[in-house]
Amino acid sequence: MIITLIGFMGCGKSSVGKALAGKLGWDFSDSDSLVELGEQMKIPEIFSNYGEKRFRELEYMYIGKTIDRYDRGTAPGKHQGRNIIFSLGGGAPTYAPTARLIKERTFPIYLKCPVEELIENLRIDGTENRPVLAGHDLETRVRQLVAEREPVYSGCARMVIYPYSITPEIIRSIRFR
Ligand code: S3P
Repeated sequence: MIITLIGFMGCGKSSVGKALAGKLGWDFSDSDSLVELGEQMKIPEIFSNYGEKRFRELEYMYIGKTIDRYDRGTAPGKHQGRNIIFSLGGGAPTYAPTARLIKERTFPIYLKCPVEELIENLRIDGTENRPVLAGHDLETRVRQLVAEREPVYSGCARMVIYPYSITPEIIRSIRFR
């Protein structure tokens, strides 16, 4: 089974995902690292060299490759049929082909956090590695993007949960296909 974690930057997708995968004995991956490794470039560099549109296309391509590798329905390989917690970049579901892909072939969980908590986490993390936030007033930008994206996340998700309420038991109880 492929569980994708979606949600806004700073909601804890990667840290929660990694911890869950560890407890479950499942694989873990995150799309930002796959893009950076595959392109040998940091995300801000990809944005500044090629723009956000190209980043979304790359993100779609790397997410698709991982899904193909794990999906039972595709060509057999060493990961086929294994379980994975796959954390996705916060903007991934805003690109319609990616949203379609994760809805059809994975079980997307929206990790939903109050906006004040996101702002607080992002203040601590810093925004230099997050080009959609860098150079903006943090609070205004986060509130604007959260308002735009909330319907996208909710429309894509099969489950909505506060990140720190998710447990291995909840994941084990999911039936997909
Ligand atoms: C983005 C979120 C980032 C990264 C990129 C764009 C977004 O991932 O993919 O900077 O548009 O929300 P995280 O959600 O892991 O920070």
